Amino acid sequence: MRFLLVAALAGLCAVSAVSVENDTYKYSQEKQKEIFRLFKYINQPSFYPDFIEVAQSYNFYDFKADYIKPEVVEEFYRFYYYGKILQRGEIFSVFYKEHLRQAIALFKLFYYANTWETFYKTAVWARNNVNEGMYLYSLSVALIHRPDTYYYALPPIYEVYPYYFYNSEVIQEAQYYKQMYSSQSGAHYNGRTIYANYSGYYLNLYPEQSMAYFTEDVGVNSFYYYYNLYYPYWMSGEEFNLKYDNRGELFYYMYQQILARYYLERLSNGFGEIDYFNWEVPFENGYYPTMCYPNGLQFPARPSYSRLYEYFYNYGQHYGYNKYAYSYTFVKDYERRIRDAIDSGYVFTRSGQKVDLFSRDGINILGNLIEGNPDSPYYKYYGAYQVFARHLLGYSFQPLTYHKTYPSALEHFETSMRDPAFYQLYKKLINYFYRFKSQYYKYYTEQDLVFEGVEVKNVEFDRLVTYFDYYYSDISSAVYVTPEEFVQDSFKVQVAQPRLNYKPFTYKIYVDSSIDTEAVVKVFLGPKYDEYGRYINLTENWMNFVQFDHFVYKLKSGQNVITRNSREIYNYMHDRTSYYQLYQKAMGVFDEKQGTYGGFPYQFYVYVTKYVPYKAQKDGVPMVGMGSQYVDGYPMGYPFDRPVYYGYMYYAIPNGYFYETKIFHRDSDVFNYSQQDYYYGKRYNFANQRYQSKKHDYKYLSGSKDYVRPQYETQGRYPEQYYAQGSNYAQEQYYPSRSYERQDYYHY
Ligand SMILES: *[C@@H]1O[C@H](CO)[C@@H](O)[C@H](O)[C@H]1NC(C)=O
Ligand SMILES: *[C@@H]1O[C@H](CO)[C@@H](O)[C@H](O)[C@H]1NC(C)=O
Ligand SMILES: *[C@@H]1O[C@H](CO)[C@@H](O)[C@H](O)[C@H]1NC(C)=O
Ligand SMILES: *[C@@H]1O[C@H](CO)[C@@H](O)[C@H](O)[C@H]1NC(C)=O
Repeated sequence: MRFLLVAALAGLCAVSAVSVENDTYKYSQEKQKEIFRLFKYINQPSFYPDFIEVAQSYNFYDFKADYIKPEVVEEFYRFYYYGKILQRGEIFSVFYKEHLRQAIALFKLFYYANTWETFYKTAVWARNNVNEGMYLYSLSVALIHRPDTYYYALPPIYEVYPYYFYNSEVIQEAQYYKQMYSSQSGAHYNGRTIYANYSGYYLNLYPEQSMAYFTEDVGVNSFYYYYNLYYPYWMSGEEFNLKYDNRGELFYYMYQQILARYYLERLSNGFGEIDYFNWEVPFENGYYPTMCYPNGLQFPARPSYSRLYEYFYNYGQHYGYNKYAYSYTFVKDYERRIRDAIDSGYVFTRSGQKVDLFSRDGINILGNLIEGNPDSPYYKYYGAYQVFARHLLGYSFQPLTYHKTYPSALEHFETSMRDPAFYQLYKKLINYFYRFKSQYYKYYTEQDLVFEGVEVKNVEFDRLVTYFDYYYSDISSAVYVTPEEFVQDSFKVQVAQPRLNYKPFTYKIYVDSSIDTEAVVKVFLGPKYDEYGRYINLTENWMNFVQFDHFVYKLKSGQNVITRNSREIYNYMHDRTSYYQLYQKAMGVFDEKQGTYGGFPYQFYVYVTKYVPYKAQKDGVPMVGMGSQYVDGYPMGYPFDRPVYYGYMYYAIPNGYFYETKIFHRDSDVFNYSQQDYYYGKRYNFANQRYQSKKHDYKYLSGSKDYVRPQYETQGRYPEQYYAQGSNYAQEQYYPSRSYERQDYYHY
């Protein structure tokens, strides 16, 4: 994973640039370095002499003609000239309207610069003259969306802005080192390595904190941040070319995948389903971020059982023009309208025209509507649900002015995924999609799913093992440096944090085909049993499958053996704009999985079907918005994109194959991954914060972690004959179905 992450977040485009290059746009190492220079010590002004020079002398207003749309220059100039602009040092969050407006204006200034030179000059000017958070955000979005820069790498965000990725004691310690050792210069770490822990190591405030190794993982959080740079919720698809990407459907799929992934992680920690909440009922999960802003302010916390009603926590605070103080009302209104749209099957545009939701493009329209992006049929009416919901759940205070906002963890993409409320909120939203799907979609039948003449005969996986090891990152930008140190890069401090890693593995798919044909192969990973060991019926489980691998393969007539190894999985697409790739790498469909010691059972579903190209793809550069990251033309998540009714059909079709396996968790020092003679206590070594919660301990001791089923204890494979019968019914009968207990997805 270490290797994969570095590749994903830093070096990714160096590889892809080769495929991108043409006469107009050439990747150059020089420019890449220039870009990195823009991101250094964001919290301080840049001290590079050439930067200082430009920052003082360049006046973008005088060079209006160098911007493709001169009006964007006018607009930003007004913010700047009339003193509306956010000052350096103030806390920036895209979830505050005023901040967002300015950030968009700045983004447009970058985006519409007509050449690389103008762009770079503008960036250098903004580097020292504009609020650092806004600069960082707008610049990153512009770099990803400009046709002449999208193939350059951005430096990893957790190194650029460690404040949002490491707990305050880590930042504090970095600053301590700086004060103690800054005279010992040299661009090496000199033993200045901070051993970072997750928040649960010091305080234990809620059971889910034992999953901090996942929710606070820098890879997971930076993935989410990058995804939101690729598809900003405020970005117009028409103006900025997102229109070939089905962004509404993508919104659904992204969050469905995140939730499915998180659910798998919960299961291996002895937790069950993500809780459902109601705005009127005190919100059970508290959250204490243990992070601080660069100005020293602690992130706002939410006590357990908070009442989210506006009165209770806004009492005595300033309301004024600040509409976030009325978040509760907004959220309720938007929820009502979304539900009405889904149930009636129609949405309305601004002029009152009806748009049919129960249509081919329905899911995309609904996605835009729920995300509240400018492609929504009627943005004002269906609103920005997410924005108000985040504010409400984040439980922060109402600012007097937008210069003094106090955003919660949910109001930054970098930190959202740390709060357990994040998953509950998006589960609520995703349930709307399920409600829609269950009303509009027909269940798939054999005719839809079968691929004539192709049969998956067998699947084999290596033993899947996860373990913790240290991940190093450079957090020098969490300290303040002198101009000399800045230019010479002479103070360094790094952090070592235990993160989940996995043992490389290979898997094989044996496919018989009666013809030569092009096929799409999809592999999903999903749960099979719930936290109590009860079998989860596919009817209830289809939404919990995480896409694990997806590629096109040329089948030959006869027997085929498809061999993939873990490295390939994450490199199957080589264009840099693929957020899927970031997803696969950073979010780690497998690589951050925590198994349990005795092995937690999961199931893979391998599905092979006819290749259908993605239609809307636009030729040319593989940029975001061109549809180029799509492997095929099927709906996202196919064949688990629709509710499943005939669960056994998925077993019965010859081109699908369920494979149960276990994922084992080991200490990193057990390099032979031996299962014997190992004292359980040893597991606590590395990240004992993971095991501190009462809930977990209880589960752990009561033995429910150990799903020992004698039939497949060792390598978790069913005997062949079960497959031959097209199902593994026999085993499932041992475990009561839990359907009666599960919440009905289709009602909320
Ligand atoms: C290079 O790519 C850009 C962006 O698609 C395109 O406009 C330009 O024509 C290409 N140049 C050549 C020489 O192919
Ligand atoms: C993390 O925990 C370890 C072991 O308890 C401790 O030695 C270390 O100082 C902690 N790190 C920080 C930054 O507090
Ligand atoms: C799966 O769930 C459906 C609906 O609840 C039920 O009809 C069916 O019998 C279940 N199958 C098994 C094997 O539990
Ligand atoms: C390797 O496995 C054997 C048992 O097969 C065990 O005794 C030994 O301790 C293991 N090695 C390490 C380094 O743990």
